[in-house]
Amino acid sequence: MFITFEGIEGSGKSLQIGRAAARLEKRGVPCLLTREPGGTEFGRALRRVLLSPGGGRREPWSELLLYLADRHQHLKEVIGPALERGRVVLCDRYHDATRAYQGAARGIPLDDIERVARLLGVVEPDRTILLDLDPETGLGRARARNSCDPAAAAEGRFEAEEISFHRRVRAAYLDLARRFPGRIEVVDAAGSPDEVSARVRDLLDRWLP
Ligand code: TYD
Repeated sequence: MFITFEGIEGSGKSLQIGRAAARLEKRGVPCLLTREPGGTEFGRALRRVLLSPGGGRREPWSELLLYLADRHQHLKEVIGPALERGRVVLCDRYHDATRAYQGAARGIPLDDIERVARLLGVVEPDRTILLDLDPETGLGRARARNSCDPAAAAEGRFEAEEISFHRRVRAAYLDLARRFPGRIEVVDAAGSPDEVSARVRDLLDRWLP
C-alpha cells in the first residue's frame, strides 16, 4: 500500500504523517516514512536547490524537471523496493504536488507533465490524504514557523509566493480530489492537531484494518 499526504503550506502534513507512521508501527504494521523532495541522498541535494529562497530565478520547466528527477530516483531507490518488501509506504508529498504547484500554479499544461511522468514510470499512489485548509491560515502558520526556525526559513522558497499562487494550489488539489474520487480523501485541516489526527486515523484504520 502506497499512501501519500498532500496539502498547501502550513496544512500540518508533516506532523500528521509522522503521527500516522508512529501509530501504524505501534499496531505492528511495517511502514516506511519518506518525503519529496528529498527521499534519497541525491534528492536531499536537489531539495536544497529547490527550496532555498535564493539561487536565482528559474523557468517552470527547469523546476519541474528537478522535481521529476527527485521522484524518479526516489521511486527506483526507495519506494519501489519498500513496496516489493511488503511495507506500507507513507510519503509526505508526491506527484499531486507537481500537478498542483508546477501545473496549476506555475502554469505548465497537465498533459505535458503527465507525458514526462509516464516516460519516467511515475505510478499513482493507492491512497492520498489531502489536508485541506484555506491559504491565509496555512501561510500564516508556515511563515510564523519560518520566523523562529532557521532550518525552515532556509526552505522558504514557496512560502514567499503571493497568496494568489497558494489559492491556485489549493483549488488544484480540490480539483484533483474530484478527478480521483476513489484515491484522494479530503480531510479538513482546520481543527486542532488532535482533531485532524483523529480524522486521519479513521481513514487509515479503514484502509489498513
Ligand atoms: P514540504 O517539505 O512538504 O514543505 P512544507 O512542509 O513547508 O509544506 O514541501 C516542499 C515544497 O516543495 C512545498 O512548498 C511544495 C513544493 N513541491 C512542488 O512544488 N512540487 C513537487 O512535486 C513537490 C513534491 C513539492
